[in-house]
Amino acid sequence: MRKPHRLLCLALYGIAALAHGADATSVDVIPMPAQVSHAGQAFTVETQTPIVVDAGDAAARRTADYLAALIARTRHLRLQVKEGPLAGAAIVLTRDAQAPVANAEGYTLDVTPRGIRVVAREEAGLFYGAITAWQLLTPARGSGDVQVPAVHIRDEPRFAWRGLMLDSARHFQTPDEVRTLLDQMAQHKLNVLHWHLTDDQGWRIEIKKYPDLTRIGAWRTPPDAGRHGEPARYGGFYTQEQIRAIVAYASERHITVVPELDMPGHAQAAVASYPALGVTGKRPPVSPDWGVHPYLYNVDEPTVHFLEDVLDEVMALFPSPYIHIGGDEAVKDQWQASPAVQARIKALGLKNEEQLQSWFIGQMGAYLAAHGRRLVGWDEILEGGVPASATVMSWRGTQGAIDAAKQGHDVVLSPAPQLYLDQMQSDRDDETTGRLPSMSLESVYAFEAVPKELDAAQAAHVLGLQANMWTEHMPTLRHVEHAVFPRMDALAEAAWTPVAARDWHGFLGRLPAQLARYRAQDIAYADSAFAVSVEVDRNAAIESGRATVTLSNQARYGNLRYTTDGSVPSAASPLYAGPFAVALPAVVNAVALAPDGTPLAAPRQRQLSLAALRSMGSGELDNCPGSDFRLRVQPTPDATSMAPTYLVNVFDNCRLYRAARLDGIAAIRVDTARLPRNYQLAHDARLVVAHPGHTPQGELEVRLDGCQGERLASLPLPAGGSDAFTLQGALPPRQGVHDLCLLFTSPITGPLYGIGEAALLPTDGGAR
Ligand code: ACM
Repeated sequence: MRKPHRLLCLALYGIAALAHGADATSVDVIPMPAQVSHAGQAFTVETQTPIVVDAGDAAARRTADYLAALIARTRHLRLQVKEGPLAGAAIVLTRDAQAPVANAEGYTLDVTPRGIRVVAREEAGLFYGAITAWQLLTPARGSGDVQVPAVHIRDEPRFAWRGLMLDSARHFQTPDEVRTLLDQMAQHKLNVLHWHLTDDQGWRIEIKKYPDLTRIGAWRTPPDAGRHGEPARYGGFYTQEQIRAIVAYASERHITVVPELDMPGHAQAAVASYPALGVTGKRPPVSPDWGVHPYLYNVDEPTVHFLEDVLDEVMALFPSPYIHIGGDEAVKDQWQASPAVQARIKALGLKNEEQLQSWFIGQMGAYLAAHGRRLVGWDEILEGGVPASATVMSWRGTQGAIDAAKQGHDVVLSPAPQLYLDQMQSDRDDETTGRLPSMSLESVYAFEAVPKELDAAQAAHVLGLQANMWTEHMPTLRHVEHAVFPRMDALAEAAWTPVAARDWHGFLGRLPAQLARYRAQDIAYADSAFAVSVEVDRNAAIESGRATVTLSNQARYGNLRYTTDGSVPSAASPLYAGPFAVALPAVVNAVALAPDGTPLAAPRQRQLSLAALRSMGSGELDNCPGSDFRLRVQPTPDATSMAPTYLVNVFDNCRLYRAARLDGIAAIRVDTARLPRNYQLAHDARLVVAHPGHTPQGELEVRLDGCQGERLASLPLPAGGSDAFTLQGALPPRQGVHDLCLLFTSPITGPLYGIGEAALLPTDGGAR
């Protein structure tokens, strides 16, 4: 037999290595380490492989115990933690003051036939090395023994502030739910939980000196309280004991919890608890609304002392060097209208309300500084001047960070909409709640925290970046998980990995293993980036009785496989290679598979019948011209399920059915939901468009060729009854393709209406 050619041997070896996940590109670690090199032979971790720490090193022991528990939970391998030195192959975690790493968070990790060795100077670095070891032990498939490729890793983070903000004010997470998020942060090497604890809709932190903050301020009465599944009152708060436990839990995972107490705006729950803190003297309710509210703290001495008392208790609970005092969205109407506040402005020698806010923030900054803490605030704190020591969190885009860094302030980037996790993950109609435009996994991955406008000295003020999980539309942990994951992976890589090692395609290749880790931990990640969209030209299909089907997914990743016979697609189904034709009616079922054949997303199905092609779901209907605000909400603000959802525009209650083919159409059916209009829009309220109606509760008007066009139908909205109802009415015969405007003429002081589905019904009454 002839010897195989040398090149062929290499090629075969390459394929074998790929199959075992041991090639140079397949270290399934997220965030990608700073340096990875491959050499030598792999190591197989078995049940007998111990995790070894130096005798008496309590820090290494803690880390080893954590690693063993994580491996047991996610790989079903029960490894013993032992004190060394020991002979034989092992996973060794060791601290060494001389370790060749850049800082306390750095580590090296080596895989050789003798085992896995993690070395760091400090416990934090050891912990991050252990996380990397865990990821090497949890590739996409399998449980039990695992072969780990031979690697040398030298790693440390790019940024010191790698954050996630959690809004526990709009919706409340239990302490265990907060811990679930802390666990995931730790597994992603994120190290700051910015905890938004007070807002107009709830005060969530127990303050012993002021019990009404939680007796009153932690509870709100939802719209439709007690009806339609809404609770009679919604709320909750964290006791000081619970907070101490959460802070300790975070600290064990090398996460600092930075508390935020928002002021001088977003203060309605505080004013509801103690009206004397407010400007008007009146007691408002704790707000059941979303948006920007008018309630500000006043600025008299007792209120400043109240806030200092609160900060005393906050500082006792949170060892964080940083305390966040908000500062965002304080519309100044109440200060402008108050003679007492105006007198205070004069007495302090200030010019206006912006300077008053700046004075107020300065008071808080000075108090924190006197207690050895640093103030962080949203970028509005730059308006009117801010203490030099303040750290600025840029949320209104990146301009705040640029201005602040140029003035010598430290900055954290958390710009809307790029790093706002309440922006939906995709435009898909099967998404749950959130705002649009969507921010894809790729867009979060691409975020660069150092604005190019900064020179090197200014760039040194960029502490890092943070994604913000606002929870107005995230009533349960499942909603939060859907919004956070897997974008947390993209965030982690933007925060940790040096620019030169960041690679979107490499990241996609490492993600299937991470999705398996989520599944092993029951994390309800969104599969939006990989869900297959089944696209057809509706009108061409209706005209010809055949559809040309195009398949794609947002990430443009994976092998797309499909069926047209109603069966669930699998690795054995046809591979999508380009648009294909089907005769109507048909059902296309499609899935994206990772290179190893594991599904990247649940299969998605689309019915291709005349009836289905003549109807549009909520998310397929466009906004009417004039306002691009889009929000996907559930029928009630505190829903405990994930569906149904309705896409609405709170500024203009109107949807556009684009390119409707009207030949043969005799009627329209609209599945409609009456939704609470619980939004406070502050100065933007003037932008809400009113459409005059003919009855007190208004109608759904159907207009031809846009919203000023001929009125084809006017379907009265029911005065009472169920909040989900179907409107149906005749349409006069029209030919050709037209945009239909679906316009609600209901009063803008009343409910909003959402459309679940709008369907055009043919003369023959039939679906085919
Ligand atoms: C913010 O989104 N209001 C900081």
